Amino acid sequence: MIKHIQHPIFKLITEAANELNVDAYVIGGFVRDIILERPCKDIDVVAIGSGIDLAKAVAKKIGKNTKVIVFKNFGTAMLVYQDFEIEFVGARKESYDRGSRKPIVEDGTLEDDQNRRDFTINALAISLNKNSFGKLLDPFGGIKDIENKILRTPLEPDITYSDDPLRMMRAIRFATQLNFTIDAASLASITKNKNRIDIVSKERIIVELNKIILSPTPSIGFKILFDTELLEIIFPALDNLKGVEIINGQGHKDNFYHTIEVLDNICPNTDNLWLRWAAIMHDIAKPATKRFEKGHGWTFHGHEDKGARMVPKIFKGLKLPLDHKMKYVQKLVRLHLRPIALAKDVVSDSAIRRLLFDAGEDIDDLMTLCNADITSKNAVKVKRYKANFTLVKEKLKEIEEKDNIRNWQPPISGEIIMETFNLKPCREIGTIKDAIREAILDGDIENTYDAAHQLMLSKGKELGLAK
Ligand code: CTP
Repeated sequence: MIKHIQHPIFKLITEAANELNVDAYVIGGFVRDIILERPCKDIDVVAIGSGIDLAKAVAKKIGKNTKVIVFKNFGTAMLVYQDFEIEFVGARKESYDRGSRKPIVEDGTLEDDQNRRDFTINALAISLNKNSFGKLLDPFGGIKDIENKILRTPLEPDITYSDDPLRMMRAIRFATQLNFTIDAASLASITKNKNRIDIVSKERIIVELNKIILSPTPSIGFKILFDTELLEIIFPALDNLKGVEIINGQGHKDNFYHTIEVLDNICPNTDNLWLRWAAIMHDIAKPATKRFEKGHGWTFHGHEDKGARMVPKIFKGLKLPLDHKMKYVQKLVRLHLRPIALAKDVVSDSAIRRLLFDAGEDIDDLMTLCNADITSKNAVKVKRYKANFTLVKEKLKEIEEKDNIRNWQPPISGEIIMETFNLKPCREIGTIKDAIREAILDGDIENTYDAAHQLMLSKGKELGLAK
């Protein structure tokens, strides 16, 4: 272990602790990440005594006016040294009030402190004391659990999860990020305690959910959320996609599994959280639009528009942003069928122009989403779709180069129309602008000033406007 704590900061902590006559240990995520060989810049130090005093003493040793930020209410203190953020806390024994996540804290031993932590892999400690510097303290077999890729709680799972129900989300998040299994007793306990998630703020829940979504294979987490029935509580609209209805022997896709497959599919192609959210939301209105039509089977007409309309309420409920990020997700949900529809048809220039116009600068993301959405079990079908899809992509490139539609504005502006016909703002201006845009997108006239000007004059005449 010693080789992992060679940085001068650890020596300074040892010296300061020695002078104050307290024991100090590095604990938690930093130690776990050493074993997992993951880079970690947050160091948690636990002192058997006052964490705040130790932080102040370390800051003094660093010198250069090092600032200590003290969180008096929590009995913790933080300082920044080079690119490390170091948090100091006194060892604690905690008991919890059932109605909140706020513990009643008393001073404790290192063992008390390790006991109150969430997982065995997060309860590992390394001694910073002079006579045992670098010694690993692993009272619950955390190292073995890392080797076996398993998440277990130090105490009875019911105690650990009920004490702080956010840990249910953390368990699922770590399982997804690290590809670990949650042990059976923990899983049963999460299911049993699922309703306790109600005392956790939505803001904290979404932080964990977003970490799941940003993992390499988010479906791992969503399956556990579903199986433990937490999903039903925290994100009912997604939970509602689960299931297959069968009428006259005809079933439809299970839209929950389809959705998380699309989400997994998109991950290698994007780290953009909001594009991943678009994958989660793309079929969200399928239950609301589902019909069985005789002779046709299952249909979900209009689920893309309805889905886009559902986005704001769902985002608000989850405490996700309601700004341009939400608008972007809405737009992708609304347009997600368009490239696929094109891929099935003979691909006309005007349909491509229209798609480019509607998607604007998000066209590449839309194509990434649509490509991920092709998930049929029928390999022949997938191959055909993908081939057509490539054709649409080539066409997009060709039309883009020719017409430059992305970020395009029609060549005749409202001002020109107002000037030409001597108009104040009125409905006719919109009518003429729409007609010009549509004619260009349909390929009826060329995308030039002259052609658009000509059309403006004839439309004006039609509307009885004097020139
Ligand atoms: N911890 C806990 N219960 C929580 C949150 C944290 O027991 N609800 C403990 C764990 O021992 C954890 C340590 O506090 O290792 C630090 O927590 P935090 O910084 O939130 O998480 P990390 O484990 O460091 O992981 P990450 O940085 O990925 O969130």
